[in-house]
Amino acid sequence: MRINDKAAARLKELGIELRQGISLAEETSLGIGGATDEILLGRYESIPEVMRLLADEHIPHRFLGGGTNVLIVDGELPWVVLHLPTAKPGMRVEGNAAYVDASADLGGMVTFCAKHDLGGMEGLIGVPGSVGGALRMNAGAYGTQIGPHVREVELYRAASGQIETLRGSDIRFDYRHTSFAPDDLMLRVKLELPPKPFKEIIAGIKVCNEKRRASQPLNQKSAGCIFKNPAGGSAGRMIDELGLKGHRVGDAMVSDRHANFFVNAGHASCSDMLKLIDDVRERVRGAYGMELENEVIVWRN
Ligand code: EPU
Repeated sequence: MRINDKAAARLKELGIELRQGISLAEETSLGIGGATDEILLGRYESIPEVMRLLADEHIPHRFLGGGTNVLIVDGELPWVVLHLPTAKPGMRVEGNAAYVDASADLGGMVTFCAKHDLGGMEGLIGVPGSVGGALRMNAGAYGTQIGPHVREVELYRAASGQIETLRGSDIRFDYRHTSFAPDDLMLRVKLELPPKPFKEIIAGIKVCNEKRRASQPLNQKSAGCIFKNPAGGSAGRMIDELGLKGHRVGDAMVSDRHANFFVNAGHASCSDMLKLIDDVRERVRGAYGMELENEVIVWRN
């Protein structure tokens, strides 16, 4: 989707950066995705105006966070992509509270808080992605989830067309699911974290890093786990038990390290990856009678 000249001129007047004809394969950890224009929402206060402009010009859009949990269709995309610039995200600590921009890298936030002797998020250290994406999905690992630490979220709400602040207690954080609307755009978060000496936090971080290195394909292109774990079960274990490690459709492959990670082992297309996902889901259904639900977000036409 290409921005028309009128909208491009208005964005320029607003001081909003437009990147034309970018490939989302280069913006996602899976290395899959087609081409479109990207708007960098550098000044939060102008977001409502940008959104009105897109509505007036009938330009469909989607928000892209860190690009680490999304599988995007190939070819010319039918939406423009909105993205928060990632350079120099705001982060500050006041007492037990951390105030962080949604564009910040999640791991960067965990170490920043550690340096201020605030812990509780050690498990999240190796989860790739942005703070905004972590909020939306209620990212979790090694017994830690971000949701319980959230006290406030500042966000743009498409429903009102305004920037609003929600209290943590008004947001539902479930397993890899939250009550945010699909078109809410996370901007900033206030977290409340338990005080802990830096050295202790670093020791916890080291343990999580080692576990992750031992069990996950960290140096391959992936979107983390493809399926949610079903209640009382483990998607990775079931796929592994079916002997599917290394199973592939084109260059989309079930990791030989962790069976719930599907990797792009070369030049996988979105349709290769979708076929592999459907094939594995069907085999698990056949063998275990369980329907695996996607954890990865899929952007289709
Ligand atoms: N297992 C196998 N074979 C495999 C993979 C796992 O037998 O190929 C077994 C393990 O031995 C273990 C069990 O399955 O007994 C669970 O595996 P693991 O500890 O790796 O955790 P997981 O449930 O597969 C979850 C999260 C990960 C997170 C890890 C660590 C989900 C869908 N996945 O994985 O999150 O990093 O725990 O806490 O909840 C993600 O969200 O993208 C993600 C990778």
